[in-house]
Amino acid sequence: MDKLIIQGGAKLHGDIRISGAKNAALPILAATLLADGPVTIGNVPHLHDITTTMELLGQMGLELTVDEKMNIEVDASTIREFFAPYELVRTMRASILVLGPLLTRFGRADVSLPGGCAIGSRPVNLHLQGLAAMGADLTVDGGYIRASAKRLKGVDLVMDLVTVTGTENLMMAATLAKGVTVIRNAAREPEVVDLANCLISMGARIEGAGTDTVRIEGVDSLSGTTYEILPDRIETGTYLVAAAMTGGNVRLKNTRPELLEAVLAKLNEAGAAITTGENWIEIGMNGQRPRAVSIHTSPYPGFPTDMQAQFTALNCIAEGTGVITESVFENRFMHVLELQRMGAQVKVEGNTAITTGVDYLKSAPLMATDLRASASLVLAGLVARGATEVDRIYHIDRGYETIEEKLSNLGAHIRRVPS
Ligand code: UD1
Repeated sequence: MDKLIIQGGAKLHGDIRISGAKNAALPILAATLLADGPVTIGNVPHLHDITTTMELLGQMGLELTVDEKMNIEVDASTIREFFAPYELVRTMRASILVLGPLLTRFGRADVSLPGGCAIGSRPVNLHLQGLAAMGADLTVDGGYIRASAKRLKGVDLVMDLVTVTGTENLMMAATLAKGVTVIRNAAREPEVVDLANCLISMGARIEGAGTDTVRIEGVDSLSGTTYEILPDRIETGTYLVAAAMTGGNVRLKNTRPELLEAVLAKLNEAGAAITTGENWIEIGMNGQRPRAVSIHTSPYPGFPTDMQAQFTALNCIAEGTGVITESVFENRFMHVLELQRMGAQVKVEGNTAITTGVDYLKSAPLMATDLRASASLVLAGLVARGATEVDRIYHIDRGYETIEEKLSNLGAHIRRVPS
């Protein structure tokens, strides 16, 4: 297991390239199960969760070929198993995304139920309810969802809650169902739209992705395609916060500013000067300390829960008091205990974290608990006095491609060592 050692104090300067979005690549890899011919996916980030998904598909018998640029070709014609084992699902909850495609194309699936995780209980009841309404026969037995169906049928679904992977699973299931499926109160995240666009390029008939009502007209089969994953808005946002916290000046390339409106608005409020072009964002702090901001997380286009921990870290060293309310997940303040060990003044009351900025944080040995929490600890390390050690960084490797190289390119003093 590796850890990161960060010597705080360097202002970040320079350019970096943003990777493809993990949360779009995962459902799109699952969608390859739907295609009659090979699917080639470009701009795939080199991340642990991607390797886990490839392992999952490989174990089912799919043929995967990767070139040196991480273009992945997947051929589902060699499938021999319809099974997602606990060992893989427990390390990556997004494995549940194979359920809809397996069921709709092959009529059967045995997928382990994901357990709880560090940020809350995270049930998948809405995925299952939707599939049952489409005619699937589902039982839970020995920790596994055992699902079978003849041909799924199109239905009108009203989702109780906005769920990203739930919308994706049901949208994929509906592509090969008989008739029309309408998903109401659907997630509007850009990654849902990216998946829809990929499915459309395979021949699916989908309208309304990116709105709260998605309409899918089932077709008899889908074909192979070539598709480029959209840029990662959460990786983009994380480096923007890193620049703001260190008082630096950074330009992020290969990204999409329009996917980050809520995040850019909060950075503006914190005092950052932001300029954008079609596929780049530049941020500068003009030597100013950031001002604390108040945030309420909500589904897209609201402020993303996946950026909450990073802004909590920013507030810890900002001027003034900030109130951060987490409304998507029930237990997403694990990073606060670690930040407090660095001298941060944060009070958590229920789902709200109230921060009073301090002049500086002090380094401490830290433990990463989940993906975005870990990112916030790295950000805190960048501005802390002394050398901060962040342990258990396999969480970071699940979602940030070569984080130490990218930060080093911007002038940070950061290295990876075995722990
Ligand atoms: C996805 C993202 C994750 C992000 C989250 C919210 C991927 C691979 N992961 O996770 O990075 O933090 O969206 O933007 O895209 N819920 C239920 N029942 C369900 C499904 C969800 O109660 O069947 C609840 C969850 O517990 C949570 C809320 O709905 O409180 C939203 O979760 P959801 O959007 O499903 O998150 P994920 O799709 O797992």
